[in-house]
Amino acid sequence: MSQSPTPLPDRRPRRLRSHPKLRDLVRENRLTTDDLVYPLFIYHGSNLRREISSMPGQYQLSLDRLPEAVEEVVRLGIPSVLLFGIPAEKDDVGTSACDDDGIVQEATRLIKKIAPELLIITDVCFCEYTSHGHCGPMTDHGGGRLDVDNDATLPLLAQQAVSHARAGADVVAPSGMMDGMIRAIRHGLDSAGFTGVPIMSYAAKFASGYYGPFRDAAESAPSFGDRRTYQMDPANGDEAMREVAIDVDEGADLVMVKPALAYMDIVRRVKDEFGLPTAVYNVSGEYAMVKAAARNGWIDERRVVLETLTGFKRAGADIIITYHALDVARWLAER
Ligand code: PBG
Ligand code: ZN
Repeated sequence: MSQSPTPLPDRRPRRLRSHPKLRDLVRENRLTTDDLVYPLFIYHGSNLRREISSMPGQYQLSLDRLPEAVEEVVRLGIPSVLLFGIPAEKDDVGTSACDDDGIVQEATRLIKKIAPELLIITDVCFCEYTSHGHCGPMTDHGGGRLDVDNDATLPLLAQQAVSHARAGADVVAPSGMMDGMIRAIRHGLDSAGFTGVPIMSYAAKFASGYYGPFRDAAESAPSFGDRRTYQMDPANGDEAMREVAIDVDEGADLVMVKPALAYMDIVRRVKDEFGLPTAVYNVSGEYAMVKAAARNGWIDERRVVLETLTGFKRAGADIIITYHALDVARWLAER
């Protein structure tokens, strides 16, 4: 009995991988420096540039140390920064968040002066400003069950956003996951004459363990309880679509999915369903894991970061908010 020869494959995808220039030609997604937003932590006081121990390479910066950081961002061609403020004074309602001379407002004015070409996005929330660390004032829902007072938070969010716009913010980004926050902020901005200021909504934001290092950086960990009554259950995808639909309906101009790595399916669904400019937030814990493994020599940091960020583009993200932005801009300029 003679055996028939093994048939040769008639489809050969490897042909398109045979030459580096051919691989370049057929590449579907490209990461560029134009995609990046770099988060900055502005800290009260002076002469402070303190590295965040759980986020190597990231710093809490006082206003007087901000220019050097901003100059580096501009030099590297990064188009945009996202500002978080850590104020000197905290109280139950986060009063200092709405102060025209507050930390983010001051930082915004300063950046506008030294780097007018940079796009300034401000995070609009109260967790860095409240003594209890929650994203709005608390109310007793009965039996001592404390929770953020959704409807009392709305006018405060509008006030904060207007104050940021008055200081020169180009885009405001509410991150508190309050129901009705986009409508309240849009109405506030429009009434104050800021009809041209877009809102980037943290539309699908999950209650995530990956925010740990950020809470060290922003000193915004809740002093009791957690954020599961306002941020989403990580198990829910259909609900994320409903959340985004509400924010789009209320007037969100850009939408965000957060965190990134465990939620790439949500990024794809949001992009396909709504077709809006879609941002993904590559959060602090995701950054910390890569840094830790890289420091141990367990992974090739550059390769892993570029692969991950390209994955965000493939998933449908138009905008990538990441603490890796400075490194990525340097790597992209080299190749
Ligand atoms: C809260 C807020 C959080 C982040 C940004 N704004 C999360 C939280 O503490 O619940 C997380 C960002 C990160 O982890 O990098 N409004
Ligand atoms: Zn918050």
